[in-house]
Amino acid sequence: MPSTMPSHDAIILGAGAAGLMCAAVAGQRGKRVLLVDHADRPGKKILISGGGRCNFTNLHTAPDRFLSANPHFAKSALARYSPQDFLSLVERHGIGWHEKTLGQLFCDGSAKAIVEMLLGECERGGVALHLGHAASAIDHADGRFRVTLGGVVHDAPALVIATGGPSIPKMGATGFAYDLARRFGLKVVEPRPALVPLTLGGDDVLFRELSGVAADVVARTGKTAFREAALFTHRGLSGPAILQISSYWKHGTPVGIDFLPGRAQGWLREAKRAQPRSTLRRQLAEALPERLAVTLAERLGHADELSALTDRRLDEAERTLSAWSFTPNGTEGYAKAEVTAGGIATAELSSQTMQAKRVQGLYGVGEAVDVTGWLGGYNFQWAWASGVAAGQSL
Ligand code: FDA
Repeated sequence: MPSTMPSHDAIILGAGAAGLMCAAVAGQRGKRVLLVDHADRPGKKILISGGGRCNFTNLHTAPDRFLSANPHFAKSALARYSPQDFLSLVERHGIGWHEKTLGQLFCDGSAKAIVEMLLGECERGGVALHLGHAASAIDHADGRFRVTLGGVVHDAPALVIATGGPSIPKMGATGFAYDLARRFGLKVVEPRPALVPLTLGGDDVLFRELSGVAADVVARTGKTAFREAALFTHRGLSGPAILQISSYWKHGTPVGIDFLPGRAQGWLREAKRAQPRSTLRRQLAEALPERLAVTLAERLGHADELSALTDRRLDEAERTLSAWSFTPNGTEGYAKAEVTAGGIATAELSSQTMQAKRVQGLYGVGEAVDVTGWLGGYNFQWAWASGVAAGQSL
């Protein structure tokens, strides 16, 4: 038994986006908070996010831009801490920002500014930061949580699981949150890589020759569609449209790509009338990168001049081009996934406070929970909002 047992009001495991925010809010409410991370520095994912400029929120945040077994769960926290609230914090700290596209807000400078801002807020709240040690033992008895860190047992009536998901394991990301939640009897929705490139096999493998080629497309799976850029890679498909659709994609199902979004029906017939000596490849090259136009025309098998093709064949070509079907054979997995979908089941948590309904004092926040945002700042907004919800309740 160690000689000292430091006591806190709350121990927060994980000094990432959600843990830092939760700690700052609770600390500034006068709570004695211990914030723990096994990494040697806090907020590592924030530092690499948004290409080093951190896409810290999205102005179009709305509950329908998050995936969860319970689509209503995120509503309360998101409504109580909005993108504008985070933006006000960013501005109070004098951090320059800009909107890139589609409501995505980025730092003008380095993502470091966001980590420093959160650390500053933690300092204002007197948060004790403990880095470089994994919690080696976690016990729960008599309504108290005991966490052993470097041989010292710390004690608190509240424990927050903010250790994120296993995406990018080489950065220290783990499935620790799920193991811990299960130990306390909480259900976990099967985790899976999301916002992740898709891989191609079989016939589709030929498209790998297009590695590096990008095009503005509509990508579809089931009833979900995203219009953004798609990128061919040496393993399959990536780019924002594909990353977005990957979160909804189910193994064994096709992904449909509209290579010419917005084209009116019958455009190829019209092209034939206007330029009968043109070819399908030339028509496609007007809207698409040359290499892609060549490959699509070859795969459609229409090398002849348009005048030699019947209207029916042109209509068929149009239909194929607007719903080209790829059946990915998988994803690039956690090594390349920007987030992990699934996680601590929302049915186990209060949507107001993030506290476990059946374990007094236990909380789950951020990516560890079964709430996953679209690409574009939504995942950080969830981390901030759920961190604030828990921080106000601790
Ligand atoms: P987060 O992963 O941030 O923090 C978890 C913390 O727990 C880490 O510090 C980790 O070291 C620690 N930890 C893990 N296991 C532990 C253990 N056993 N003991 C102690 N500590 C432990 N989102 C967005 O909105 N905009 C963007 O621009 C980007 N960009 C982006 C780029 C890349 C490359 C990736 C991988 C991800 C993004 N994201 C993003 C997603 C975003 O980074 C992610 O959703 C949030 O960081 C989640 O915040 P959390 O605090 O929940 O987990």
